[in-house]
Amino acid sequence: MERPPVDRPSLDALARLDGVDDSAWLDVIQKMDEVYSQLVQDEIALEEKNVQLEQSQQFIFGLLSAMSDVLVACDEACRIEETNAALCALVGRPDDALRGLPLAELLADAASGERLRAALASTGRGGASVEIDLRDAQGQPVPVDLNVTPRFNAAGQRVGHLFVGRPLGELKRAYRELREAHEALKRTQQQLLHSEKMASLGRLVAGVAHELNNPISFVLGNVHALQRYSERLREYLAALHAGSPGDEQARLRAKLRIDHLLADLPSLIEGTLEGAQRTADIVQGLKRFSAVDREERGTVDLNGVVERAIHWVRKGTAPAFAVHWSPGPPCPVTGSAGQLLQVLMNLVQNAYDAAATRPDTAPALWITLEREADRVRLRLRDNGPGIAPEHLSRIFDPFFTTKPVGKGTGLGLSISYGIVEQHGGRLTAGNHPVGGAEFVLELPGGA
Ligand SMILES: Nc1ncnc2c1ncn2[C@@H]1O[C@H](COP(=O)(O)OP(=O)(O)O)[C@@H](O)[C@H]1O
Ligand SMILES: [Mg+2]
Repeated sequence: MERPPVDRPSLDALARLDGVDDSAWLDVIQKMDEVYSQLVQDEIALEEKNVQLEQSQQFIFGLLSAMSDVLVACDEACRIEETNAALCALVGRPDDALRGLPLAELLADAASGERLRAALASTGRGGASVEIDLRDAQGQPVPVDLNVTPRFNAAGQRVGHLFVGRPLGELKRAYRELREAHEALKRTQQQLLHSEKMASLGRLVAGVAHELNNPISFVLGNVHALQRYSERLREYLAALHAGSPGDEQARLRAKLRIDHLLADLPSLIEGTLEGAQRTADIVQGLKRFSAVDREERGTVDLNGVVERAIHWVRKGTAPAFAVHWSPGPPCPVTGSAGQLLQVLMNLVQNAYDAAATRPDTAPALWITLEREADRVRLRLRDNGPGIAPEHLSRIFDPFFTTKPVGKGTGLGLSISYGIVEQHGGRLTAGNHPVGGAEFVLELPGGA
């Protein structure tokens, strides 16, 4: 602020005044000098104060402009007195257009006005916080989290309010994006689970079809043979009933190979029964996927179970499987014959599948049965490649399989593990020092 300079009166002008003695003049001149120098000093101090004031005003203005939060100072009637750059940018109006406006004009809706009034009413000497919507430059509502504090003058009287707030738009948008990403992730995870289920169902169906195929074609083959046999028998019996001569009967008997037919009948019927039984077993085994089926328990000779398991695996897929096994004295355990057979068949089949992957050697399996006072232990060692160390902890997991689609279900070992546990036993897997995998099946019982 510029002030007009103070001029000193000239002595000539003073001398022109008549009727005043010299000493009085000197007094006056001295006083005027004093007043003058005081005035100069005051002016200098004022200039300094002015500079300080401008600096602190600049400082406050700098602070207000640098704030990213919006700021509004209002008087008692809630008319805007001061704003900052963040608010001007948000509402799209310059500072001088805002000054004097009622704060309510910046609000987006009546509900915000209500909330603001309630917050103002609740401020005593302290502050309150409220969420309101301001209208942005495009007329869109912007949610703002606002802190309201009363302002006081030097005398301690309330002169208005200060509002400082942070637009929640960014935060809300980020939150919405996060939630959408989370939803998308959940959907993908469900799809993944679903496709995994479908894939394992596919493997299961393929495995079941494969397993059923063998006994069914076996039964079919036998029934076709029986059909042919019955034709020949009918022809032979018709000749007998017609009273053909003895040599004609003998010729027909030889031609129709009746003796061979009669000798073959028991094994055909037994084979058919076994095939049908195997089909029933598979279906029974399948039921276990959907329901916990507690089969009849009884005393089972483990030798017989091992024997049947080898038999069925050989019949199914491995006719040339060299299984080294010699049954010992009866080894009774308590449990379900069907379930134990399922466990053993899977172990023998797995051993064959693993060993058959080696082109250099013929598949072989060594089975031994050890008896202790209260436990029996079956060891099955094959000459396959063994179990990869990283797979050792996973082979009992449901659906874990290293076999091609349609060949393995990955359920064999996990179901077997459950069955053995239900029998109070233990099923463990490892690699044998001489090579190949070794599975150990322990069950309560024994000598
Ligand atoms: N004797 C074995 N030698 C090597 N790996 C084996 C043997 N037995 C089981 N495994 C591994 O364990 C996996 C799971 O076996 P399993 O649960 O019976 O399912 P699947 O036979 O349908 O694959 C097999 O795919 C194989 O990788
Ligand atoms: Mg298996």
